[in-house]
Amino acid sequence: MSANPDINSPLALKGQVLSFNDGADASQYDYWEKGCVVIEDGLIAAVGDAASVTVPEGAGVVDHGDDLIMAGFVDGHVHYPQMSVIASYGAKLIDWLNTYTFPEEAKFSNEDYASATAEFFLAESLKNGYTTSAVFCTIHPQSVDAFFSEAERLGLRMVAGKVLMDRHVPDNLCDTPQLAYDQSKTLIEKWHGKGRNLYAITPRFAPTSTPEQLEVAGALYQESDGVYVQSHVSENVDEIKWVGELFPEANSYLDVYKRFNLLGPRSLYGHGIHFSDADIAMTVETDTSIVHCPTSNLFLGSGLFDYESLRDAGARIALGTDVGGGTSLSPFATMKAAYEIAQFRDYSLSPFAAFHMLTLGGARALHLDDKIGRLAPGYEADLTVLDLNSTDLIHHRMQNVDSLADTLFAQIVLADDRAIRATYANGAEVYKRN
Ligand code: GUN
Ligand code: ZN
Repeated sequence: MSANPDINSPLALKGQVLSFNDGADASQYDYWEKGCVVIEDGLIAAVGDAASVTVPEGAGVVDHGDDLIMAGFVDGHVHYPQMSVIASYGAKLIDWLNTYTFPEEAKFSNEDYASATAEFFLAESLKNGYTTSAVFCTIHPQSVDAFFSEAERLGLRMVAGKVLMDRHVPDNLCDTPQLAYDQSKTLIEKWHGKGRNLYAITPRFAPTSTPEQLEVAGALYQESDGVYVQSHVSENVDEIKWVGELFPEANSYLDVYKRFNLLGPRSLYGHGIHFSDADIAMTVETDTSIVHCPTSNLFLGSGLFDYESLRDAGARIALGTDVGGGTSLSPFATMKAAYEIAQFRDYSLSPFAAFHMLTLGGARALHLDDKIGRLAPGYEADLTVLDLNSTDLIHHRMQNVDSLADTLFAQIVLADDRAIRATYANGAEVYKRN
Protein backbone atom coordinates (compact mmCIF):
# COMPACT_ATOMS: atom_id res chain seq x y z
CA MET A 1 0.00 0.00 0.00
CA SER A 2 1.32 3.42 -0.92
CA ALA A 3 2.50 5.66 1.89
CA ASN A 4 3.46 9.32 1.61
CA PRO A 5 2.08 9.34 -1.91
CA ASP A 6 2.55 12.31 -4.18
CA ILE A 7 -0.53 14.42 -3.64
CA ASN A 8 0.81 17.38 -5.55
CA SER A 9 -0.27 16.55 -9.07
CA PRO A 10 -3.99 17.06 -9.79
CA LEU A 11 -6.16 14.01 -10.29
CA ALA A 12 -9.52 13.64 -12.01
CA LEU A 13 -11.74 10.64 -11.21
CA LYS A 14 -14.57 9.84 -13.58
CA GLY A 15 -17.58 7.62 -12.94
CA GLN A 16 -21.04 7.81 -11.45
CA VAL A 17 -20.88 10.30 -8.57
CA LEU A 18 -23.15 10.48 -5.52
CA SER A 19 -22.71 12.98 -2.70
CA PHE A 20 -25.03 14.08 0.11
CA ASN A 21 -25.36 17.80 0.79
CA ASP A 22 -26.90 18.07 4.24
CA GLY A 23 -25.64 16.31 7.36
CA ALA A 24 -29.14 16.01 8.78
CA ASP A 25 -31.19 15.21 5.68
CA ALA A 26 -30.63 12.15 3.47
CA SER A 27 -32.95 13.48 0.74
CA GLN A 28 -30.49 16.25 -0.16
CA TYR A 29 -27.93 14.85 -2.58
CA ASP A 30 -26.23 15.36 -5.94
CA TYR A 31 -25.96 12.51 -8.41
CA TRP A 32 -24.25 12.57 -11.80
CA GLU A 33 -24.49 9.48 -14.01
CA LYS A 34 -21.34 10.60 -15.83
CA GLY A 35 -19.59 12.63 -13.19
CA CYS A 36 -16.10 13.85 -12.45
CA VAL A 37 -14.24 14.70 -9.23
CA VAL A 38 -11.11 16.83 -9.47
CA ILE A 39 -8.59 16.59 -6.65
CA GLU A 40 -5.74 19.03 -5.98
CA ASP A 41 -3.38 19.17 -2.99
CA GLY A 42 -5.40 16.59 -1.09
CA LEU A 43 -8.64 18.56 -1.44
CA ILE A 44 -11.59 18.34 -3.77
CA ALA A 45 -11.25 21.18 -6.29
CA ALA A 46 -14.33 20.53 -8.42
CA VAL A 47 -17.16 18.04 -8.82
CA GLY A 48 -20.04 17.78 -11.24
CA ASP A 49 -21.11 16.53 -14.60
CA ALA A 50 -18.08 15.32 -16.55
CA ALA A 51 -19.15 17.41 -19.53
CA SER A 52 -18.95 20.64 -17.55
CA VAL A 53 -16.10 20.08 -15.05
CA THR A 54 -12.77 21.52 -16.19
CA VAL A 55 -9.93 19.04 -15.75
CA PRO A 56 -6.69 20.96 -15.05
CA GLU A 57 -3.87 20.67 -17.55
CA GLY A 58 -1.52 17.84 -16.67
CA ALA A 59 -3.98 16.13 -14.33
CA GLY A 60 -3.90 12.37 -14.06
CA VAL A 61 -7.26 10.97 -15.18
CA VAL A 62 -8.71 7.72 -13.84
CA ASP A 63 -11.86 6.63 -15.62
CA HIS A 64 -13.86 4.40 -13.29
CA GLY A 65 -16.51 3.79 -15.94
CA ASP A 66 -19.81 2.75 -14.34
CA ASP A 67 -18.38 2.54 -10.85
CA LEU A 68 -19.95 4.75 -8.19
CA ILE A 69 -17.72 7.35 -6.52
CA MET A 70 -18.78 8.44 -3.04
CA ALA A 71 -17.25 10.20 -0.07
CA GLY A 72 -15.11 7.89 2.09
CA PHE A 73 -17.06 5.96 4.71
CA VAL A 74 -17.16 6.79 8.44
CA ASP A 75 -17.04 4.07 11.13
CA GLY A 76 -18.27 5.84 14.28
CA HIS A 77 -17.30 3.13 16.77
CA VAL A 78 -14.72 0.34 16.52
CA HIS A 79 -12.07 -1.41 18.64
CA TYR A 80 -8.88 -2.08 16.66
CA PRO A 81 -7.44 -4.37 19.40
CA GLN A 82 -10.39 -6.74 18.98
CA MET A 83 -9.50 -7.92 15.46
CA SER A 84 -8.50 -11.34 16.85
CA VAL A 85 -11.67 -11.87 18.93
CA ILE A 86 -14.18 -11.14 16.18
CA ALA A 87 -16.53 -14.14 15.87
CA SER A 88 -16.16 -15.40 19.46
CA TYR A 89 -18.90 -17.84 20.43
CA GLY A 90 -21.64 -18.01 22.97
CA ALA A 91 -21.59 -14.97 25.26
CA LYS A 92 -23.46 -11.76 25.89
CA LEU A 93 -21.77 -8.47 26.69
CA ILE A 94 -20.23 -8.85 30.18
CA ASP A 95 -19.20 -12.52 29.70
CA TRP A 96 -17.90 -11.71 26.24
CA LEU A 97 -15.69 -8.94 27.66
CA ASN A 98 -14.32 -11.12 30.46
CA THR A 99 -13.87 -14.30 28.44
CA TYR A 100 -12.49 -13.03 25.15
CA THR A 101 -11.85 -9.31 25.06
CA PHE A 102 -9.90 -8.48 28.20
CA PRO A 103 -7.31 -11.29 27.73
CA GLU A 104 -6.75 -10.12 24.14
CA GLU A 105 -6.46 -6.45 25.06
CA ALA A 106 -3.78 -7.30 27.66
CA LYS A 107 -1.49 -8.31 24.76
CA PHE A 108 -1.27 -4.68 23.65
CA SER A 109 1.33 -3.88 26.29
CA ASN A 110 3.63 -5.19 23.55
CA GLU A 111 4.12 -2.36 21.05
CA ASP A 112 5.13 -4.70 18.22
CA TYR A 113 1.88 -6.63 18.64
CA ALA A 114 -0.03 -3.35 18.73
CA SER A 115 1.72 -2.05 15.58
CA ALA A 116 1.08 -5.23 13.60
CA THR A 117 -2.59 -5.19 14.60
CA ALA A 118 -3.02 -1.48 13.84
CA GLU A 119 -1.51 -2.04 10.40
CA PHE A 120 -3.84 -4.97 9.71
CA PHE A 121 -6.89 -3.14 11.05
CA LEU A 122 -6.31 -0.03 8.93
CA ALA A 123 -5.61 -2.09 5.81
CA GLU A 124 -8.89 -3.96 6.36
CA SER A 125 -10.79 -0.71 7.00
CA LEU A 126 -9.51 0.79 3.73
CA LYS A 127 -10.36 -2.44 1.93
CA ASN A 128 -13.94 -1.87 3.12
CA GLY A 129 -14.03 1.78 2.06
CA TYR A 130 -13.67 3.35 5.52
CA THR A 131 -11.42 6.41 5.57
CA THR A 132 -12.36 7.80 9.01
CA SER A 133 -13.07 5.79 12.16
CA ALA A 134 -13.52 6.54 15.85
CA VAL A 135 -11.31 3.91 17.43
CA PHE A 136 -10.83 2.48 20.91
CA CYS A 137 -7.23 1.50 21.65
CA THR A 138 -6.36 -0.25 24.97
CA ILE A 139 -5.23 1.13 28.34
CA HIS A 140 -1.63 1.03 27.06
CA PRO A 141 -0.29 4.35 25.69
CA GLN A 142 1.84 2.33 23.26
CA SER A 143 -1.38 0.99 21.68
CA VAL A 144 -2.30 4.59 20.87
CA ASP A 145 1.17 5.41 19.53
CA ALA A 146 1.01 2.33 17.29
CA PHE A 147 -2.39 3.30 15.93
CA PHE A 148 -1.78 6.99 15.26
CA SER A 149 1.67 6.33 13.73
CA GLU A 150 0.14 4.05 11.11
CA ALA A 151 -2.84 6.38 10.51
CA GLU A 152 -0.46 9.28 9.96
CA ARG A 153 1.71 7.23 7.61
CA LEU A 154 -1.37 6.53 5.49
CA GLY A 155 -2.60 10.15 5.62
CA LEU A 156 -5.90 9.22 7.28
CA ARG A 157 -8.24 11.36 9.36
CA MET A 158 -8.77 9.20 12.45
CA VAL A 159 -10.18 9.68 15.94
CA ALA A 160 -8.73 7.44 18.68
CA GLY A 161 -7.70 7.29 22.31
CA LYS A 162 -6.38 5.32 25.25
CA VAL A 163 -9.05 3.33 27.11
CA LEU A 164 -9.52 4.32 30.77
CA MET A 165 -10.43 1.57 33.28
CA ASP A 166 -9.70 1.51 37.02
CA ARG A 167 -12.08 -1.13 38.39
CA HIS A 168 -13.87 -4.40 37.58
CA VAL A 169 -11.17 -5.50 35.14
CA PRO A 170 -8.09 -7.78 35.51
CA ASP A 171 -5.15 -6.11 37.31
CA ASN A 172 -3.08 -5.98 34.13
CA LEU A 173 -5.76 -3.80 32.49
CA CYS A 174 -6.26 -1.43 35.39
CA ASP A 175 -5.00 2.15 35.52
CA THR A 176 -5.84 4.88 38.07
CA PRO A 177 -7.47 8.33 37.88
CA GLN A 178 -4.01 9.94 37.99
CA LEU A 179 -2.54 7.68 35.29
CA ALA A 180 -5.65 8.19 33.17
CA TYR A 181 -5.17 11.94 33.37
CA ASP A 182 -1.40 12.02 32.90
CA GLN A 183 -1.23 9.51 30.06
CA SER A 184 -4.24 10.96 28.20
CA LYS A 185 -2.81 14.48 28.54
CA THR A 186 0.56 13.38 27.16
CA LEU A 187 -1.13 11.56 24.28
CA ILE A 188 -3.30 14.59 23.47
CA GLU A 189 -0.19 16.77 23.28
CA LYS A 190 1.57 14.18 21.15
CA TRP A 191 -1.19 13.26 18.70
CA HIS A 192 -4.18 15.63 18.67
CA GLY A 193 -3.89 17.63 15.45
CA LYS A 194 -0.74 15.77 14.34
CA GLY A 195 -1.26 14.97 10.66
CA ARG A 196 -5.01 14.43 10.43
CA ASN A 197 -5.25 12.64 13.78
CA LEU A 198 -7.76 13.65 16.45
CA TYR A 199 -7.76 12.49 20.07
CA ALA A 200 -10.66 10.95 21.98
CA ILE A 201 -10.76 10.68 25.78
CA THR A 202 -11.99 7.12 26.12
CA PRO A 203 -13.49 5.90 29.42
CA ARG A 204 -14.52 2.37 28.35
CA PHE A 205 -17.94 2.49 30.04
CA ALA A 206 -19.29 3.58 33.42
CA PRO A 207 -18.90 0.16 35.17
CA THR A 208 -15.11 0.05 34.64
CA SER A 209 -14.35 3.58 35.88
CA THR A 210 -14.60 4.86 39.45
CA PRO A 211 -16.39 8.18 39.97
CA GLU A 212 -12.92 9.69 40.52
CA GLN A 213 -11.77 8.50 37.10
CA LEU A 214 -14.90 9.76 35.35
CA GLU A 215 -14.30 13.10 37.09
CA VAL A 216 -10.81 13.25 35.61
CA ALA A 217 -12.08 12.28 32.14
CA GLY A 218 -14.70 15.05 32.26
CA ALA A 219 -12.10 17.60 33.37
CA LEU A 220 -9.80 16.65 30.50
CA TYR A 221 -12.64 16.96 27.98
CA GLN A 222 -13.58 20.39 29.29
CA GLU A 223 -10.01 21.74 29.35
CA SER A 224 -8.65 20.34 26.05
CA ASP A 225 -9.49 22.21 22.87
CA GLY A 226 -11.33 20.20 20.21
CA VAL A 227 -10.83 16.73 21.68
CA TYR A 228 -13.46 13.99 21.56
CA VAL A 229 -15.02 11.72 24.18
CA GLN A 230 -16.03 8.18 23.29
CA SER A 231 -17.64 5.47 25.40
CA HIS A 232 -20.53 2.99 25.54
CA VAL A 233 -24.06 3.54 26.88
CA SER A 234 -27.26 1.52 27.36
CA GLU A 235 -26.17 -1.52 25.39
CA ASN A 236 -27.33 -4.50 27.45
CA VAL A 237 -30.02 -4.88 30.12
CA ASP A 238 -27.71 -6.54 32.70
CA GLU A 239 -25.14 -3.80 32.13
CA ILE A 240 -27.80 -1.11 32.66
CA LYS A 241 -28.90 -2.75 35.93
CA TRP A 242 -25.26 -2.86 37.08
CA VAL A 243 -24.80 0.84 36.29
CA GLY A 244 -27.95 1.57 38.33
CA GLU A 245 -26.37 -0.21 41.32
CA LEU A 246 -23.00 1.51 40.91
CA PHE A 247 -24.44 5.01 40.44
CA PRO A 248 -27.73 5.03 42.39
CA GLU A 249 -27.93 8.83 42.38
CA ALA A 250 -28.11 9.03 38.55
CA ASN A 251 -31.47 9.13 36.75
CA SER A 252 -30.26 6.87 33.95
CA TYR A 253 -27.11 5.37 32.43
CA LEU A 254 -26.71 8.37 30.11
CA ASP A 255 -27.22 10.69 33.08
CA VAL A 256 -24.12 9.18 34.75
CA TYR A 257 -22.00 10.68 31.96
CA LYS A 258 -23.86 14.00 32.18
CA ARG A 259 -23.04 14.23 35.88
CA PHE A 260 -19.34 13.92 35.06
CA ASN A 261 -19.42 16.54 32.25
CA LEU A 262 -18.89 13.86 29.61
CA LEU A 263 -21.76 14.81 27.29
CA GLY A 264 -21.45 17.53 24.66
CA PRO A 265 -20.21 18.28 21.15
CA ARG A 266 -17.72 15.68 19.89
CA SER A 267 -18.88 13.10 22.45
CA LEU A 268 -19.65 9.76 20.78
CA TYR A 269 -21.58 7.04 22.59
CA GLY A 270 -21.87 3.56 21.14
CA HIS A 271 -25.23 1.72 21.22
CA GLY A 272 -27.85 3.81 23.11
CA ILE A 273 -30.37 1.01 22.58
CA HIS A 274 -32.47 1.09 25.73
CA PHE A 275 -33.10 4.85 25.92
CA SER A 276 -36.08 6.54 27.60
CA ASP A 277 -37.66 9.66 26.09
CA ALA A 278 -35.69 11.66 28.67
CA ASP A 279 -32.43 10.08 27.44
CA ILE A 280 -33.28 10.94 23.83
CA ALA A 281 -34.03 14.53 24.85
CA MET A 282 -30.75 14.70 26.84
CA THR A 283 -28.83 13.44 23.81
CA VAL A 284 -30.16 16.27 21.67
CA GLU A 285 -29.99 19.01 24.34
CA THR A 286 -26.34 18.24 25.06
CA ASP A 287 -25.43 17.77 21.36
CA THR A 288 -24.15 14.27 22.10
CA SER A 289 -23.77 11.82 19.21
CA ILE A 290 -25.03 8.23 19.24
CA VAL A 291 -23.39 5.47 17.21
CA HIS A 292 -25.66 2.69 16.00
CA CYS A 293 -23.73 -0.61 15.97
CA PRO A 294 -26.20 -3.06 14.40
CA THR A 295 -24.11 -6.19 13.75
CA SER A 296 -22.84 -6.05 17.32
CA ASN A 297 -26.33 -5.55 18.73
CA LEU A 298 -27.57 -8.65 16.92
CA PHE A 299 -24.47 -10.79 17.60
CA LEU A 300 -24.37 -10.04 21.35
CA GLY A 301 -28.18 -10.13 21.58
CA SER A 302 -28.18 -6.61 23.02
CA GLY A 303 -31.40 -5.23 21.55
CA LEU A 304 -33.03 -3.29 18.72
CA PHE A 305 -31.84 0.31 18.26
CA ASP A 306 -34.65 2.89 17.94
CA TYR A 307 -33.30 4.79 14.93
CA GLU A 308 -36.57 6.53 14.11
CA SER A 309 -37.08 8.16 17.52
CA LEU A 310 -33.51 9.41 17.70
CA ARG A 311 -33.62 10.69 14.13
CA ASP A 312 -36.97 12.41 14.62
CA ALA A 313 -35.58 14.12 17.72
CA GLY A 314 -32.73 15.48 15.57
CA ALA A 315 -29.92 13.46 17.14
CA ARG A 316 -26.57 13.11 15.42
CA ILE A 317 -26.36 9.40 14.52
CA ALA A 318 -23.39 7.54 13.02
CA LEU A 319 -23.08 3.89 12.04
CA GLY A 320 -20.42 1.77 13.73
CA THR A 321 -19.02 -1.67 13.05
CA ASP A 322 -18.07 -2.18 16.75
CA VAL A 323 -15.64 -4.95 15.80
CA GLY A 324 -15.02 -7.30 17.63
CA GLY A 325 -18.53 -7.31 19.22
CA GLY A 326 -19.58 -6.42 15.70
CA THR A 327 -19.16 -9.21 13.19
CA SER A 328 -17.86 -7.38 10.15
CA LEU A 329 -15.81 -4.42 8.95
CA SER A 330 -18.06 -4.32 5.90
CA PRO A 331 -20.24 -1.23 5.52
CA PHE A 332 -22.70 -3.37 3.56
CA ALA A 333 -23.09 -5.92 6.37
CA THR A 334 -23.47 -3.03 8.79
CA MET A 335 -26.14 -1.24 6.73
CA LYS A 336 -27.93 -4.53 6.11
CA ALA A 337 -28.10 -5.25 9.83
CA ALA A 338 -29.39 -1.70 10.44
CA TYR A 339 -32.10 -2.35 7.86
CA GLU A 340 -33.03 -5.67 9.50
CA ILE A 341 -33.22 -4.10 12.97
CA ALA A 342 -35.44 -1.34 11.60
CA GLN A 343 -37.73 -4.00 10.09
CA PHE A 344 -38.20 -5.48 13.58
CA ARG A 345 -39.19 -1.96 14.66
CA ASP A 346 -41.75 -1.78 11.82
CA TYR A 347 -39.73 0.79 9.91
CA SER A 348 -37.91 0.39 6.59
CA LEU A 349 -34.56 2.17 6.64
CA SER A 350 -34.13 3.75 3.20
CA PRO A 351 -30.93 3.03 1.27
CA PHE A 352 -30.31 6.78 1.10
CA ALA A 353 -30.61 7.08 4.90
CA ALA A 354 -28.16 4.18 5.30
CA PHE A 355 -25.52 5.57 2.90
CA HIS A 356 -26.06 9.06 4.36
CA MET A 357 -25.27 7.76 7.88
CA LEU A 358 -22.21 6.08 6.41
CA THR A 359 -20.92 9.35 4.89
CA LEU A 360 -22.14 12.88 5.65
CA GLY A 361 -24.44 11.87 8.55
CA GLY A 362 -21.51 10.06 10.17
CA ALA A 363 -19.27 13.07 9.55
CA ARG A 364 -21.90 15.27 11.21
CA ALA A 365 -21.95 12.94 14.22
CA LEU A 366 -18.18 13.43 14.45
CA HIS A 367 -18.54 17.22 13.93
CA LEU A 368 -16.39 16.84 10.83
CA ASP A 369 -19.09 17.60 8.25
CA ASP A 370 -17.22 20.74 7.13
CA LYS A 371 -14.18 18.58 6.22
CA ILE A 372 -15.24 15.06 5.21
CA GLY A 373 -18.34 13.09 4.21
CA ARG A 374 -19.10 15.12 1.07
CA LEU A 375 -17.73 15.51 -2.42
CA ALA A 376 -17.69 19.29 -2.72
CA PRO A 377 -15.00 21.91 -3.39
CA GLY A 378 -12.78 22.49 -0.36
CA TYR A 379 -13.59 19.13 1.26
CA GLU A 380 -10.77 16.74 2.10
CA ALA A 381 -10.35 14.24 -0.74
CA ASP A 382 -11.36 10.99 0.98
CA LEU A 383 -13.30 8.86 -1.50
CA THR A 384 -14.55 5.34 -2.00
CA VAL A 385 -15.19 3.82 -5.42
CA LEU A 386 -17.82 1.06 -5.61
CA ASP A 387 -17.97 -1.62 -8.28
CA LEU A 388 -21.74 -2.05 -8.64
CA ASN A 389 -21.35 -5.43 -10.37
CA SER A 390 -18.86 -7.15 -8.08
CA THR A 391 -20.38 -10.65 -8.09
CA ASP A 392 -22.41 -12.70 -10.53
CA LEU A 393 -25.50 -12.46 -8.34
CA ILE A 394 -25.21 -8.68 -7.97
CA HIS A 395 -24.70 -8.35 -11.72
CA HIS A 396 -27.81 -10.48 -12.27
CA ARG A 397 -29.83 -8.38 -9.83
CA MET A 398 -28.55 -5.15 -11.40
CA GLN A 399 -30.28 -6.11 -14.69
CA ASN A 400 -33.51 -5.59 -12.81
CA VAL A 401 -32.95 -2.30 -10.96
CA ASP A 402 -35.16 0.64 -11.81
CA SER A 403 -33.77 3.48 -9.71
CA LEU A 404 -30.72 4.72 -7.82
CA ALA A 405 -32.45 3.70 -4.58
CA ASP A 406 -32.88 0.16 -5.90
CA THR A 407 -29.22 0.05 -7.00
CA LEU A 408 -28.03 1.16 -3.56
CA PHE A 409 -30.32 -1.25 -1.75
CA ALA A 410 -29.10 -4.21 -3.81
CA GLN A 411 -25.54 -3.30 -2.81
CA ILE A 412 -26.52 -3.07 0.88
CA VAL A 413 -28.05 -6.54 0.84
CA LEU A 414 -25.67 -8.36 -1.50
CA ALA A 415 -22.25 -6.68 -1.55
CA ASP A 416 -19.09 -7.29 0.45
CA ASP A 417 -15.49 -6.08 0.27
CA ARG A 418 -15.26 -7.19 -3.38
CA ALA A 419 -17.43 -4.17 -4.19
CA ILE A 420 -14.76 -1.73 -3.01
CA ARG A 421 -12.80 -0.99 -6.19
CA ALA A 422 -10.53 1.66 -4.69
CA THR A 423 -10.17 3.93 -1.69
CA TYR A 424 -8.54 7.37 -1.70
CA ALA A 425 -7.45 9.34 1.34
CA ASN A 426 -6.10 12.87 1.37
CA GLY A 427 -6.17 12.75 -2.43
CA ALA A 428 -4.04 9.61 -2.79
CA GLU A 429 -5.01 6.04 -3.62
CA VAL A 430 -4.57 4.00 -0.43
CA TYR A 431 -6.34 0.82 -1.53
CA LYS A 432 -6.97 -0.79 -4.89
CA ARG A 433 -8.73 -4.11 -5.42
CA ASN A 434 -6.70 -6.67 -7.33
N1 GUN B 1 -18.91 -2.16 26.56
C1 GUN B 1 -17.73 -1.97 27.20
N2 GUN B 1 -16.71 -2.40 26.44
C2 GUN B 1 -17.24 -2.86 25.30
C3 GUN B 1 -16.67 -3.43 24.12
O1 GUN B 1 -15.45 -3.60 23.99
N3 GUN B 1 -17.56 -3.78 23.16
C4 GUN B 1 -18.89 -3.60 23.28
N4 GUN B 1 -19.70 -3.96 22.28
N5 GUN B 1 -19.43 -3.08 24.37
C5 GUN B 1 -18.62 -2.71 25.38
ZN1 ZN C 1 -17.68 -0.91 21.45
